[in-house]
Amino acid sequence: MISVRKLTKEFKIPVKPPGMKGAIRHLIRGEYKVKVAVESVDFSIEQGEAVAYIGPNGAGKSTTIKMLTGILKPTSGEILVNGIDPQRHRIQNAKNIGVVFGQRTQLWWDIPVEESFALLKNIYEVPDAVYNENLKLFNEIFGLSEFIGRSARKLSLGQRMRADLAAALLHNPSTVFLDEPTIGLDIGTKEAMRELIQRINREKGVTIILTSHDLKDVEDICRRIIVIDGGRIICDKEISQLTKEYAMDRGLQITLLDMQKELPARLLGQEGISYAAMEDAHTLEIHFKPEMYTAFEIVEEVNKYARIQDFRLREPSIERMIEKIYRSGEQSA
Ligand SMILES: Nc1ncnc2c1ncn2[C@@H]1O[C@H](COP(=O)(O)OP(=O)(O)O)[C@@H](O)[C@H]1O
Ligand SMILES: [Mg+2]
Repeated sequence: MISVRKLTKEFKIPVKPPGMKGAIRHLIRGEYKVKVAVESVDFSIEQGEAVAYIGPNGAGKSTTIKMLTGILKPTSGEILVNGIDPQRHRIQNAKNIGVVFGQRTQLWWDIPVEESFALLKNIYEVPDAVYNENLKLFNEIFGLSEFIGRSARKLSLGQRMRADLAAALLHNPSTVFLDEPTIGLDIGTKEAMRELIQRINREKGVTIILTSHDLKDVEDICRRIIVIDGGRIICDKEISQLTKEYAMDRGLQITLLDMQKELPARLLGQEGISYAAMEDAHTLEIHFKPEMYTAFEIVEEVNKYARIQDFRLREPSIERMIEKIYRSGEQSA
């Protein structure tokens, strides 16, 4: 279990006025400005959850992950990861967790990947049986054997990320932190990464904390999202709950063969219909409250004014939901 209370991280950024004089003044006075990257963040995550930690660039995601993994020291606040303060007990914490940063490798650059793995096996004291079983699984999903004999520097990005994820999971950590693990990867490698992450979560009950800009990662892997913006949490919900809330606003896309009469303003401005507009000459997009109308009633009404060729329900997409969350976050900020 992870619990975070009033977690805050401030960075002191040196303010250097331009030129030599400025540099000297900075040396003497040491002027800084403070950047609050993470501000009074609270959440707790139960063992076995799969949580997406998302937000725009610079929101404070990586800073949070670095504090949770013990790499950065919080300015204030409290973190417990499986009962351990990750900064104070970094080594003990490392035994429980796996970490992948998409932007940089954790592997030794110049030695064959299999030797990196063997080193990690020793460091983490992974029993032979566990090690072999894990390698078998990673091989199955990742085809590791094709490149495990090469050094990390000679791998393609896709191979390296597969090796990195495998390395992070070798010691059966109970909690895994993944910061943009699929960034820049081809579709095939992304799929393989998702499959392995999903399996260790579903089959082994490993806790997953994932940041990603690829919402397909989020959709496939996570059941809960925490949204951070400007260092503050603006939303923390089960995805199923969000879907329910946004499904309140059911969407229907209707393709018209031809317009018999002008669609009445009444239909477009009616209570319970939150949005209705012609997207183009043939496509009508309508959002309505499902407790007030059935989709059939909407179609029937439109059918009085136009010949309908086709229609389909629009499920609330995760993109749209997150867009709305960002927007409402801006309003309340
Ligand atoms: N070492 C650092 N020194 C100064 N500012 C930093 C440092 N690391 C991150 N920041 C700033 O803190 C904010 C949050 O950064 P980060 O956590 O990397 O965002 P994200 O991962 O959500 O894109 C950004 O404004 C970033 O510029
Ligand atoms: Mg980041």
